Amino acid sequence: MDSLIDPREYAALSECTYLNQASLGLIPRASLEASVRFLNDVAQHGNLRLSDQAEAEVLDTLRTAAAGLLGAPLASVAVVGGASEGLSQLAAMLSSADGEVILVPSDFPSVTYPWLAARVRCGMRIRRVPDRATDDLTQSLAGAIGARTTVVCASAVQYATGSRIDVADLVAKARRVGARVVVGVTQMAGAVPVAMAGWGADALVCSGYKWLSAPGGVALLAVAEDLAAAIPPWSAGKAVPHRSTSGRRNSPWPPAPGDSSCRPCPTALPSGCSRPSSCWPGSG
Ligand SMILES: Cc1ncc(COP(=O)(O)O)c(C=O)c1O
Repeated sequence: MDSLIDPREYAALSECTYLNQASLGLIPRASLEASVRFLNDVAQHGNLRLSDQAEAEVLDTLRTAAAGLLGAPLASVAVVGGASEGLSQLAAMLSSADGEVILVPSDFPSVTYPWLAARVRCGMRIRRVPDRATDDLTQSLAGAIGARTTVVCASAVQYATGSRIDVADLVAKARRVGARVVVGVTQMAGAVPVAMAGWGADALVCSGYKWLSAPGGVALLAVAEDLAAAIPPWSAGKAVPHRSTSGRRNSPWPPAPGDSSCRPCPTALPSGCSRPSSCWPGSG
């Protein structure tokens, strides 16, 4: 079999055949050396060698590549610190006292635990759909969707079993009741094509240290533009979609003062839900 990349890029391959990319992905020497060079330069020389434009390009270049990899609009892609962080943000955005999320209990904890926290925080109901070897997981999830379902959240490739979900089919079923679909693609992106826009998914999250050959602490979050416009982000910062350096808007985050999407934060909280008292500069 032809290698996609020179095997000499990985020290481990001189000792063995490495089959654990799905657990701790190897990073090619070229990427590692570039990262160390960058860290050294910034640590030792700060802005003497890093212009404002080059600094902005660090994230913009990554976001552009990520948009291609995820099949997502550029404006929807954010760089975050881990899948857990992205999923926690989505769980905070999409949970409510009268909501119900469908989960796969054997899914990776980063995908399910944020919803357990949402249940404690505001009473979000959880419906569990087991991933059984005898059943088609897409059908099982679709079959569990009911009138009370507001979210389905699952990994498109299950880390424990390798089961794959037909995301487009699941989205079509969820839309019948108006439910959102959040998809973990950590065990997919980099190994199997991902098509957020083609699937019609509301949000994707992808950790970096598996098939993307990144170090820990880097992950991708993509939020469909209608969802981003409808619900304020729980946390916001410069690594989420932003105004481009040229000043041209490329995202609904954050809304400019006076935008119709810019509205005051709720003062009356839905039963027991603790939302932050302010959203972002310019709101209210
Ligand atoms: C399906 C899945 N999602 C997420 C992660 C990693 O999540 P985090 O970035 O929160 O460590 C893993 C790691 O094994 C995984 O298998």
